[in-house]
Amino acid sequence: MRLSPQDPSSYSNSHELIVYHVDLDWAVNFEKSTLSGSATLHFRTVRNNVEEIFLDTSELKITSVAALSSAGEIQLNWDVGAHIENIGSKLTIYLPTKTTGELTISVKYETDPKASALQWLTAQQTCGKQYPYLFSQCQAIHARSIVPCQDTPAVKFTYNATLRHPSYVTGLMSAVRKSSEPGLSKFEQKIAIPSYLLAIVVGALVEKPIGPISSVWAEQEQIDESAEEFSQTADFIAKAEEICGPYVWGRYDLLVMPPSFPFGGMENPCLTFVTPTLLAGDKSLATVVAHEIAHSWTGNLVTNRNFEHFWLNEGFTVFVEGKIVGRLFGDAARDFHALHGLSELTDCIKTQLADTPELTKLVVDLSECSPDDAFSTVPYMKGSTFLRYLEDLFGGPEKFEPFFRAYLEKFKFQSVLTDDFKKALYEWFRENPNNDVLLGRIDWDRWLFGEGMPPVIPNFNRTLLVSCQNHCLLWAEQELDVIRASTLLSESLSTVQIIEFLAQLLAKKTIKDLNAEKIDLLEKTYSIQGTKNAEIRFRLVRLYIRAKMMEKMNAILSFLNSNFRMKFVRPIYKELAGWREAKPIAVENFQKVKDQMMSVCAYGVSKDLDI
Ligand code: BES
Ligand code: ZN
Repeated sequence: MRLSPQDPSSYSNSHELIVYHVDLDWAVNFEKSTLSGSATLHFRTVRNNVEEIFLDTSELKITSVAALSSAGEIQLNWDVGAHIENIGSKLTIYLPTKTTGELTISVKYETDPKASALQWLTAQQTCGKQYPYLFSQCQAIHARSIVPCQDTPAVKFTYNATLRHPSYVTGLMSAVRKSSEPGLSKFEQKIAIPSYLLAIVVGALVEKPIGPISSVWAEQEQIDESAEEFSQTADFIAKAEEICGPYVWGRYDLLVMPPSFPFGGMENPCLTFVTPTLLAGDKSLATVVAHEIAHSWTGNLVTNRNFEHFWLNEGFTVFVEGKIVGRLFGDAARDFHALHGLSELTDCIKTQLADTPELTKLVVDLSECSPDDAFSTVPYMKGSTFLRYLEDLFGGPEKFEPFFRAYLEKFKFQSVLTDDFKKALYEWFRENPNNDVLLGRIDWDRWLFGEGMPPVIPNFNRTLLVSCQNHCLLWAEQELDVIRASTLLSESLSTVQIIEFLAQLLAKKTIKDLNAEKIDLLEKTYSIQGTKNAEIRFRLVRLYIRAKMMEKMNAILSFLNSNFRMKFVRPIYKELAGWREAKPIAVENFQKVKDQMMSVCAYGVSKDLDI
């Protein structure tokens, strides 16, 4: 079912009228776990004589809907349709007269304590254990659970917000803070954003400057560690500007989230949210920040028009992320990063998407599928590989980057479809008739709608990958004595190489004599026993499961309960579900902790556990 012509996941009639500005007035209530107040939506019609407004909502308690004008306030008729799982309900507002031009609607409402975009943490669940905490995650279609809106990335609006909260906590949003006094903060987002970029956090946060336009925010306990881990932020921004053009959002702050944040990072404008699982101590996972910075152009300025074209956000962003890595750490590092992404893609297609091959297409059909269910690394890695293929085809960065910048310039502040990109590419490269042959060579149909791995794997520099492959072969195929005696082990691997080596090992169909002794030796050899690097722990845990090491169940559960980042916990639960003796333990553990998870994560894990 396509809810609207523009967007299969939104009820909004954005082909009739669009929101261009929103004023929010929210009171944060930690006792009731609610946001309450009003959203005032400023509309402009895009055709004549509009009679109704359709908005997306999810579990909102609406108390009034009024039209505001210079003549005053007029109460309007409205109704809310049935709640549909993963979609929410349609709010219909009946306009008293056929309307053309501008109109302002104010909705008074309160959120549900279980609003899918919000997580309410008790003081006990925070680092400091003194104050409660609230954060949001709206992407892809959860903004509707905190504000009645046209919850489609086809529509962009500026916003102002007034936030009222207890004076012992700090409130921040995806905007520039204009003023703050105890218990009251005001924000302004002057650049039009899609609804999924609305964000709020309220908690005992402190700030530490890390660059000319950047601070890191975290609870006191993690602030110094965070500032150190993300000290490259200003360099990432500088390189991103070289690649994409000027940074227009004013500030770029980072917020280090509680461990239940379900993603690695979220590109909320002016304030990226990141998982604390990036705090590895050696900056080895900081490329996630480069990724979120890149979204300041790809995604936040040029936005996918609906989530079927999500690769225009994520594939483009991974492509820019790779360029940042390349400019800072060299082309070999850039290509290693891309090859690592391809290992993850192979794994994802084989495991997570084994039963849904249609979701391995670059452009997907979301008429029967929610964006949360379709989420995978495919748009990220197939998308960025496609761009790299095109870059190589047209003669490398020198030829491709000017086009890339022109594309961003052309579509900034807008929302696009894959066809807009394709047309822009043809327009640009057709200027030179020599390019016609190259354009003719692109198999668009296979890239965009073919299933499985990318049709062409670019000729990446494999220098840094080779050692990972050698170490993998050693451990996968040899006995302990041979391994112990191997000269390979005198060569040291970087943290990211260890991660990739473990990923390759896990991708092997068979690992010779995989048992406790071998895994123990492996951990000692690479000095990763008890490591705090979450990417390494994630893969070690999967090795324990592969080896059916019941004696490691405590270590497995302790990792599972240390964070609720979906990338880590979902595959582990899925693998535990396939190990007969472990499944009941996994289910029991999940039941115990699921209320501490964000709802997207709990929903995903219950599917992985088949319950
Ligand atoms: N925008 C995404 C996160 C997201 C996507 C949230 C879809 C909800 C729905 C963010 O930019 C992202 O891609 N994060 C990645 C890290 C990145 C380095 C691949 C993640 O969370 O792992
Ligand atoms: Zn992203």
